[in-house]
Amino acid sequence: SEQTYIMIKPDGVQRGLVAAILGRFETRGFQIVGMKMLTPTKELASSHYGEHEGKPFFGGLVDFLSSGPVVGVVLQGKGVVAAARMMLGATKPLESAPGTIRGDFAIDMGRNVMHASDSVDSATREIGLWFKKEEVVSWTSCAAGSLLE
Ligand code: GTP
Ligand code: MG
Repeated sequence: SEQTYIMIKPDGVQRGLVAAILGRFETRGFQIVGMKMLTPTKELASSHYGEHEGKPFFGGLVDFLSSGPVVGVVLQGKGVVAAARMMLGATKPLESAPGTIRGDFAIDMGRNVMHASDSVDSATREIGLWFKKEEVVSWTSCAAGSLLE
């Protein structure tokens, strides 16, 4: 089944939003198959946001992501890449719809609480960057029969 990479950013951890954010994905029916807390090095943060290298906000973005602990999660389920982006909301929190994570929890562009991979290819790259193969766990939920036809 499809997998994506989501991450509670340092502001989300500091604000105590980890459970509230992950709870939305669990209650919807997506499965957590990998999870870790760490303070990213600048190198890891730069590599994660490599597509933005050279942009004026890149330095600040990398400094922010490596400023404190984050919670990185591999989520699994049908259509999870696009679904996680919809649940996350627009990049600019003031343009994120109410009901989305950013629309409900954030007001600032640089402090927008969570990351989610923007495509299947990005998800593959990011899961490989943040997790070793053996840190992604294959398990079958006993609720699977109630969630999937
Ligand atoms: P992520 O899930 O964190 O990757 O956000 P995103 O996919 O919604 O946005 P994008 O990948 O385009 O940008 C990554 C992060 O850089 C955003 O979440 C913002 O915090 C920040 N960012 C993007 N564009 C700008 C900008 O124009 N100005 C500033 N200050 N920050 C920006
Ligand atoms: Mg992005």
